[in-house]
Amino acid sequence: MALALAAEHVHTLEKAHDRKSFDCGNDDLNRYLREQARQDAERRVAAPFVLTQPGSPAVLGFYTLSASIIPVDELPPDLMKRLPRYGQLPVTLLGRLAVDRSVGGQGVGEFLLVDALRRSLEAAQQIAAMAVIVDAKDKRAESFYRHFDFRPFQQTPLRLFLPMGQIAKLFA
Ligand SMILES: CC(C)(COP(=O)(O)OP(=O)(O)OC[C@H]1O[C@@H](n2cnc3c(N)ncnc32)[C@H](O)[C@@H]1OP(=O)(O)O)[C@@H](O)C(=O)NCCC(=O)NCCS
Repeated sequence: MALALAAEHVHTLEKAHDRKSFDCGNDDLNRYLREQARQDAERRVAAPFVLTQPGSPAVLGFYTLSASIIPVDELPPDLMKRLPRYGQLPVTLLGRLAVDRSVGGQGVGEFLLVDALRRSLEAAQQIAAMAVIVDAKDKRAESFYRHFDFRPFQQTPLRLFLPMGQIAKLFA
């Protein structure tokens, strides 16, 4: 059956969501969803969002968003020179993003990434963030984000960013 990929199927993580069978192929991310994500939400250190299908509580994919800051001098010089010299700048951290293996390669990762970027853009209209940043778990994850135009930071390997201005153009 075709997957229903629409924003209405992305929800704030609730107790009723079935996280036990989730398997993205990465034990740390599986464990995070199972054991940590709800606590992070309760403590307000991360906002987890999950994709489900109508009539089923099974989580097919998830991502988390948090407010964060970055030192301005970690940005590439071409971007840095267009920004104020504030030392640190506000960003939105896409902390984790993963897709269940049963639906891998069907556009779910891209759908969740776009959903996360749209949500980040909307939030930034109320509380400013000048980019979305991600900490890729490994080289494969890094190449996934690079595929969507994320650029690497100068000093921190596997940390990438996408300027909010560029994200705004995606949804214009
Ligand atoms: C990485 C991950 C999220 C991709 O999800 P997915 O649903 O299989 O990916 P999609 O089907 O949406 O792929 C969308 C596009 O990204 C590309 N893509 C997928 N994984 C990629 C990778 N590792 N490197 C480069 N491109 C990749 C696809 O080829 C596709 O491109 P196209 O539209 O031009 O054909 C998924 O494999 C996963 O959960 N991995 C384990 C956890 C992880 O590494 N998370 C990311 C870092 S925290």
